[in-house]
Amino acid sequence: MKTTFSRCYPYEMRLPCWHVLESALTNQTYSGSLNLSGRLQDKVAIVTGGASGIGRAICQRFSLEGAKVMVADRNIAGAEETLSLMGATPATADMVDVDISDAFRVERMVHETVMRFGRVDILINGAAILIRTPPLVEVDEVLWDLTMETNVKGVFLCCKYAIPAMTANGGGAIVNISSMSGIRGIGYSVPYAVSKAGVIHLTKVAASEYTAQGVRINCIAPGGIDTPQMRGSTASAERFSERNESHPMGRVGSPDEIANLVLWLASDEASYVSGSTYIIDGGAWAAAN
Ligand SMILES: NC(=O)c1ccc[n+]([C@@H]2O[C@H](COP(=O)([O-])OP(=O)(O)OC[C@H]3O[C@@H](n4cnc5c(N)ncnc54)[C@H](O)[C@@H]3O)[C@@H](O)[C@H]2O)c1
Repeated sequence: MKTTFSRCYPYEMRLPCWHVLESALTNQTYSGSLNLSGRLQDKVAIVTGGASGIGRAICQRFSLEGAKVMVADRNIAGAEETLSLMGATPATADMVDVDISDAFRVERMVHETVMRFGRVDILINGAAILIRTPPLVEVDEVLWDLTMETNVKGVFLCCKYAIPAMTANGGGAIVNISSMSGIRGIGYSVPYAVSKAGVIHLTKVAASEYTAQGVRINCIAPGGIDTPQMRGSTASAERFSERNESHPMGRVGSPDEIANLVLWLASDEASYVSGSTYIIDGGAWAAAN
């Protein structure tokens, strides 16, 4: 069956920082030194948020490790750019236009992946929005709802529809991307921080329910990572420089460094790991505590 992509949906509401995120979309190629060993050979992976930043780096890394990758995002131009950067062929990767907060479209994303590549072994829940807000009492309810719809309900829906596809083939691996904001009490982003705490807890509960059926579900909590989302939420070059200096390594992380941890969690090397959340922040949390 031929895979078709619906591109007729509007690009959602445009909130204050979206134009910054979009204009900051960067071309990223893998910059680290790699020891490739086909760790995901012939596995089929869905990567939400694959059109940008961390998700894009994960798509690239997974492809290099032999996975068949479905780049899942609502940013179609970005997803096409990711496929191009991956050097994808129809046999190795494809893309699907999805809004993760829409159950119908998430179900279709999983269905299209199965029709296209035959199965789903790996789900990476990377798509999310970050909207900086004023202090809590001034937070608009609309921003709260929008953030929860995307960052929590979106992860829930992707798990809800991908897990049955995984158990049908004996199991799989899910990696949810939370944030240090979900652990620390970082101000001026109450909806985002609470949503990311929700992702950590969703991971634990889902792992307690599905690990016995062969689905390992883990989470990562990155600190500052140099992506369009992070630059969009960092007001100025000066502020960006301060963020670098606030880290023990003198810099924020790169998307490739996140992809390395996600790769390990998604691979069979992490066969005894489920229900865990891994902080990846260059030592910042340890140094602050
Ligand atoms: N960059 C950081 O410093 C940082 C730190 C901690 C956690 N994170 C988390 O890492 C993940 C990736 O972040 P990033 O910095 O690469 O962000 P990014 O903005 O570069 O990429 C996010 C992607 O998600 C997509 N997306 C957003 N809402 C969507 C929806 N409803 N449906 C489908 N796609 C949607 C966007 O189109 C975009 O391609 C996010 O979950 C983010 O919260 C990032």
